[in-house]
Amino acid sequence: MNLKNIYTTGFRLIQPAKSLLFSVLLISGIQASAQTKIITIETKHNAMALQVGADKRVGMVYLGVKLAGPDEYRHIPAMRRQGTDDSGTFNSAYTPAGSRNLVEPAIEVTHADGNNSLDLQYVSDQTQKVDANISITSIVLKDPAYPFQVTLFYKVYADDDVVEQWSVIKQTEKGNVTLHKFASANLYLTANAYWLKQFHGNWAREMQPQESELTAGIKVLDSKLGTRADLYQPPSFMVSFDQPATEDQGKVLLGSLEWSGNFKIDLEVDATKNLRLIAGINPYASDYSLKPNEEFKTPAFLYTYSDLGKGNASRNLQRWARDYQIVDGKGARLTILNNWESTFFDFNETKLAALLKDAKKLGTDVFLLDDGWFGNKYPRNNDNAGLGDWQENKSKLPSGIGYLVKEAQANDVKFGIWAEPEMVNPKSELYEKHPDWVIKQPNRKEYYFRNQLVLDLSNPKVQDFVFGILDNLFTKNPQLGFIKWDCNAVIYNAYSAYEKRQSHLYIDYVRGLYSVFARVRAKYPKVPMMLCSGGGGRVDYGALKYFTEFWPSDNTDPLERVFIQYEYSFFFPAITSDNHVTDWGKQPIKFRTDVAMMGKLGFDIMVGKLNENDLKFCQQAIQTYKGFSDVVWHGDQYRLLSPWKNDLASIMYINESRSKVIMFNYLVNNRYDAGSHLPIPLQGLNPGKKYKVQEINLYPGTPSRLQADAVFTGDYLMKVGINPEVNAGRASVILEIDEME
Ligand code: DGJ
Repeated sequence: MNLKNIYTTGFRLIQPAKSLLFSVLLISGIQASAQTKIITIETKHNAMALQVGADKRVGMVYLGVKLAGPDEYRHIPAMRRQGTDDSGTFNSAYTPAGSRNLVEPAIEVTHADGNNSLDLQYVSDQTQKVDANISITSIVLKDPAYPFQVTLFYKVYADDDVVEQWSVIKQTEKGNVTLHKFASANLYLTANAYWLKQFHGNWAREMQPQESELTAGIKVLDSKLGTRADLYQPPSFMVSFDQPATEDQGKVLLGSLEWSGNFKIDLEVDATKNLRLIAGINPYASDYSLKPNEEFKTPAFLYTYSDLGKGNASRNLQRWARDYQIVDGKGARLTILNNWESTFFDFNETKLAALLKDAKKLGTDVFLLDDGWFGNKYPRNNDNAGLGDWQENKSKLPSGIGYLVKEAQANDVKFGIWAEPEMVNPKSELYEKHPDWVIKQPNRKEYYFRNQLVLDLSNPKVQDFVFGILDNLFTKNPQLGFIKWDCNAVIYNAYSAYEKRQSHLYIDYVRGLYSVFARVRAKYPKVPMMLCSGGGGRVDYGALKYFTEFWPSDNTDPLERVFIQYEYSFFFPAITSDNHVTDWGKQPIKFRTDVAMMGKLGFDIMVGKLNENDLKFCQQAIQTYKGFSDVVWHGDQYRLLSPWKNDLASIMYINESRSKVIMFNYLVNNRYDAGSHLPIPLQGLNPGKKYKVQEINLYPGTPSRLQADAVFTGDYLMKVGINPEVNAGRASVILEIDEME
């Protein structure tokens, strides 16, 4: 046996003698040394295996479909011939900086005595069962030279194949320790190639995907925007192994950081061609000083692995979100008539009273009053003024919100309201009264994003003020039925008049925000709330824990929305996606409504301007939607045809009992003869059952092109499929497929 080979199998240990013995034992398949230990973290189908080495270092040796024999994970490292790891730490479960590491660390600190080194050694691990589906494994690591400890947590949702991973950092040194980097998770993944699917964008261009092979070195996905952190890219991504996974095939990991502020995801293809994935809060300008005995808990990094393609992985994530993360994920949602696109800031009581009647006429559950209802000294008649002054504007609304709430009740609709509580216009009484509550540099020019600045939520007084905005609205109007929480500015000139350490601001801001959300939810647990950020500038599972839904984009052009909603759906269930019918785009009202129905339906149009047939269509569409929305909100989603590769996008939802399917089909190409030329095979049906296929949501007076009362077996529908007959004259088609009794 070639000793050089044994010595350089990718996980070289520091003491040669021990390392040699250890490797020989592993290669020969003999029970490994008593000094080593394998910790497995298992979901229903998958497993992560961590190995505690003879040097007490915890390394990750496997993530994939679980092995039948848990004893066999220990053979994996010795089978690899991937070159040299000169540090012996490439696969560290949480890479400390300043001792042996030669690659990107997960944690970097300065101890109380000014020393920058850190080593983390295994102390103990335990697994605690929370219920039949959930368990939490924790692994305690300690520095042998300093009283400094990190506990790694892995919360497993077994049936969903989902893991949330975070770390808790604690020290008992003689003074404060500075944390320079503090990742949530550090994974080590092995394949022949890694394909990253990432998303980028800007206002009205959210979730633009790019998929590319990762090359040697570090690829970073990050945000430094503070608030509205996802404007340029979200903390959600996926990595395929060996080759890009498809919907139904291939190995893939979907990941997302549960954090609404600056994030950083390092994807490092190392010198041994393995992938080191480190995800957490962005350490940029965020050194964090930790007092003795204080705990620093990172946000969770959420991930799911599948060897059955992106579709299976995203169904797992969507189910997990409905069952465990979003507010009322198993409940129902409200249809909305919003006034933003139809009036902007130009409204008054009379106009709104008429719109409330329109909501009733249309048949939506809620009328949502958007921006522009507040500010007196500086009326909010455009986006230059008034933010921060949350009193009804007396000339627009002389009878106040209370009157509108009552009017809504009289019209049998709920009243919802927009607020942007974290923000302030310099032209506002709030700014005049509390300039110290505003994030800005004391000695520099102010920079504005949409003419506004961000309030300093690290300050508990500001947190009280922000909580008070919503609390006052509810106290005065207990019947309020819906809240839209907006956030339109990023943080420029990051400086807090409150913070003693400026480098805490980005982190404490988000913690302050979450503390306000938590207070709102503790007092108003059920009220539906939309997470909005000048479109989709804040779509993450950290914030969604407090919300029922989110606003994906201000771009409501339905053609664009097909693509945007398609990409969000990899990570977020349809029940969370607020889709409104507006006047954006050139498509007819049917196309616009059909696209908005693939999620949470709403309208943002002048109902009074609809012609007779358009109005009739919308009224019927709302009723049709109410009939099937349960399937879209709570069912499994299958992306059947991608709009990026086909003339049409085709997406279906199926209920849990597999008795009802809603299939959405949208033409996305207007070239000659573009359309559905072949039947589209469905998925998830019961092969032995018979299903009736019918076209629904037809525009008044338009017959269906599909054969009436067509019945097929599930077997046929999955092997051959159904042709929705999409073409330029039938650009969007919704099919309902029902199991026959
Ligand atoms: C940005 C949001 O995305 C819009 O829907 C609207 O609420 C405006 N803000 C109001 O200012």
